[in-house]
Amino acid sequence: MSRRGALLLGGLGAAATAAGGAGLWWSLASRSSPRTAPVTGAELSQPSELRSTGGRLEVRLEAAAAPIELAGQQARTLGYNGGTPGPTLRLRQGDVLGVRLVNSLEQPTNLHVHGLHVSPEGSGDNVFVVVNPGAAHDYEYRLPPNHPPGVYWYHPHHHGMVADQVFAGLFGAIIVEDPEPLPVSTERILVISDTTLDGGGNVVRVSQMERMLGREGELLLVNGQSSPEFSAMPGRRERWRIINACVARYLSLRLDGQQLQLLGMDSGRFRTPENAEELFLAPGNRADVLVTTAAGNSVLRAAYYDRGSMAGMMGQGPGPRPSDRPAAAGAALATLRVAGSAAPPPSPLPPLPAGRDPDDLRTAVMAARRQLTLSSGAGMGMGGAMMGFTINGREFSAARTDTAVAAGSVEEWTLTNPSPMDHPFHLHVWPMQVIEEGGRAVDRPEWRDVVNVPAQGRVKVRVAFKDFTGRSVYHCHILDHEDLGMMGVIEVR
Ligand code: C2O
Ligand code: CU
Ligand code: CU
Repeated sequence: MSRRGALLLGGLGAAATAAGGAGLWWSLASRSSPRTAPVTGAELSQPSELRSTGGRLEVRLEAAAAPIELAGQQARTLGYNGGTPGPTLRLRQGDVLGVRLVNSLEQPTNLHVHGLHVSPEGSGDNVFVVVNPGAAHDYEYRLPPNHPPGVYWYHPHHHGMVADQVFAGLFGAIIVEDPEPLPVSTERILVISDTTLDGGGNVVRVSQMERMLGREGELLLVNGQSSPEFSAMPGRRERWRIINACVARYLSLRLDGQQLQLLGMDSGRFRTPENAEELFLAPGNRADVLVTTAAGNSVLRAAYYDRGSMAGMMGQGPGPRPSDRPAAAGAALATLRVAGSAAPPPSPLPPLPAGRDPDDLRTAVMAARRQLTLSSGAGMGMGGAMMGFTINGREFSAARTDTAVAAGSVEEWTLTNPSPMDHPFHLHVWPMQVIEEGGRAVDRPEWRDVVNVPAQGRVKVRVAFKDFTGRSVYHCHILDHEDLGMMGVIEVR
């Protein structure tokens, strides 16, 4: 064990040792992993697609352990309908999505449609539903006729097991189509995830320490593949739908040599596409991107992002330096090869139809202002207690309602993070408009359902609690932190 690891265990005391924590910081690369190297360079594949017809899509999603090909090798992981990612669900505004979730796992699970603006009650997007092993549950999600088009996703949400189940491969994409399709030559789904397999192809169990840090897997995958390649002709406009399905890894994506324009993030859409050098996706975020191709090879890379550490919490001297981390130089995710005869430049995008933007809340009347404090670290050290992961000092309890909101009102929430690591804050059902970030007012409407709250930082958002009532949740989208208790219950009534 390294000296730093030893110090760390010392700082955590008996509790960490009892929990079996290996006590390694960014330990994944140092775990002896006799697996053969992942297969790279395969042609990028697309998840299978299921498309609504006549206003409805009925799907059966079976969550099961299965031999699944991951990174070009047989792995024993979890998947929906035998795949990682599961099938892409393509919907239109106003559609009804019916999902029969069949639980063939050996543990409870359920389903969440991340980012969709649908009812959280009954058999809607209800995270309090528990689907036991061998059981099934019929979900029905009704999208309003003005539902924002964009990129969404689904994953399990059974408290305490979310990170393990997502890390093992349970997730898939949801697309809400534009009423009039944008003129593009190709559309691609890029679901980015990470996991770690042992020598037998099983997903490893991570230590308590890794849960507290937020686990990052050894394998960084795009649609379940390791460093796949794909090709395009120059001068084409492609549309890429990118999902960060990693449990805890932040993605700061670059694609040097190609022109990127961001159409929107999460359910939000800019008035006009924005040129972008780097796409910053906290866990749970999505980007809807236009890529105008230029001849040459370009590598889609995830640059290193320092999301902080728990060093400060331990009171144990310096934490890991970026250079301690294997991914410090940035990880290659995929390679785009652009060659062939150039096309004439693509026609300009038609303007977005008027009246589709949600109301800009910068001038709205606030019914309430609240502060939500995301803490990790308080309460450690005494009587062997572990780090507490709390919101406003409390760990999640399904029975307690933390925040009661009047239906139809607009509120301003100040999200503060006094801890030494970033926490990506996620609210279900109702999108957040970012009002202030890094101490500065945001000068245009920007909508997100996951908002990163940096270490020692704060962010102000406004939310219109309209269209639906019921109980739902907000939480840190470092899914380990959610499982450790950094989640609260909201009731709109
Ligand atoms: Cu993507 Cu409550 O989760
Ligand atoms: Cu969600
Ligand atoms: Cu967190």
